[in-house]
Amino acid sequence: MSYLIGSQTLTIRCLGARRRVAVSPLSEAIAGYKLGRSLRLFFGGLRSNSRRAEPCFQMGTWPWFGGAESHADEGRSGSAGWSGGRLISSGGGSQEPTGAGLPFYHEPILLEEIMAYLQVADGRRYLDVTLGGGGHSEGILQRGGHVIGLDQDPGAIAHATARLRGFSTKFCALRGNFRDFPEMLQEIGVDRFDGIVADLGISSRQLDDPAKGFSFMHDGPLDLRMNPDADKSAADLVNTLPFEELLRILIEFGEEPQARRIARAIVEQRTKRPVETTKHLADVVSSVCFRKGHRHPATLTFQALRIAVNDELGALVDFLDAAPRWLKPGGRLAILSFHSLEDRLVKRAFQRLSTPEIDKVEWPAPRPNPEYCLKVLTRKPVEPSEEEVKRNPRSRSARLRVAEKLPEKGANA
Ligand SMILES: C[S@@+](CC[C@H](N)C(=O)[O-])C[C@H]1O[C@@H](n2cnc3c(N)ncnc32)[C@H](O)[C@@H]1O
Repeated sequence: MSYLIGSQTLTIRCLGARRRVAVSPLSEAIAGYKLGRSLRLFFGGLRSNSRRAEPCFQMGTWPWFGGAESHADEGRSGSAGWSGGRLISSGGGSQEPTGAGLPFYHEPILLEEIMAYLQVADGRRYLDVTLGGGGHSEGILQRGGHVIGLDQDPGAIAHATARLRGFSTKFCALRGNFRDFPEMLQEIGVDRFDGIVADLGISSRQLDDPAKGFSFMHDGPLDLRMNPDADKSAADLVNTLPFEELLRILIEFGEEPQARRIARAIVEQRTKRPVETTKHLADVVSSVCFRKGHRHPATLTFQALRIAVNDELGALVDFLDAAPRWLKPGGRLAILSFHSLEDRLVKRAFQRLSTPEIDKVEWPAPRPNPEYCLKVLTRKPVEPSEEEVKRNPRSRSARLRVAEKLPEKGANA
């Protein structure tokens, strides 16, 4: 494999195929670069909204999980080069305090509970597939764990790597969609983890940034993409999808009781003028829907579009399929979800993977479940305490489910 880096595009030759992916501007891409100490080369890539597309790689400092698994000198000498066909970069790093001087990004939710469930300890290895502002990753690193953090938003990668720069020998960031994490990790030769954490949805920073269009509380472009390089924005969907498709999105992803009325209003509005801003869409919805309680009438419409634009449920299904295989026996998977659609998928996957036998009426006896590999540790989802909700109202809908990987058959565990 070879990487040819141009100013804005990256050409990857892989198994004879030649692929071109977009690369974030270098100024944004090379964040936290410390010459002579640590090389962090960030390859942003294009990932379309479609179910399967180019995985995109963001490569950082990984002295501790290179192919050879040697922890030799924890990279303190600082080196970078090609090894085994992979770009390996490593840098010296200290354990200096982190995050000082950075603007607020996101408050990690159920932090202590997640740390306890993950049994974070010195030298254990974790995968944080929703790096965001790096809050959960920082919790792991401060307790002596090592982390690979993933995010599809280059802004999150830049913030978290700056915040966690003091842990550069124990932390590495990759940019991409977590549905592609197995390919990304195979590419860099990483082994299994002691724990995997997913904190689904968007961060406070994304929500509060008018340019991302996640909130109708601020006027901005109707975008809603976590990955700014993804093919289609919410405005593209709203202005081009047929009525039936808009209706399906509002029903399936928003569970919006007034879906038909809203879809009709959108289609009517766009014949006069394209709907291109968050305020415009919120006004269209408000013109045909009543406010129920404290909730803005456009809340479910925005939720539905966000899920559709980012294919959030499809990505979660792919992630849930792959994650157990990437845990060591005894390793733990912690998933924090924020609405019933996500939580239902997590609950069902955990049920399916923790059932030892399957029974069907047409079978004479139950049969072993070939997928059986987890033990669920949270019979009911863990919710934030009243005190946490008071301190951080955005935590109120959080639900944490945790499962543990069972010993593998035939292992002398
Ligand atoms: C709630 S925030 C995580 C906050 C983080 N735990 C912290 O403490 O700062 C969710 C993050 O996951 C990212 N994200 C959501 N879905 C993703 C996906 N399918 N692939 C990669 N990143 C994703 C978002 O861009 C966002 O930065």
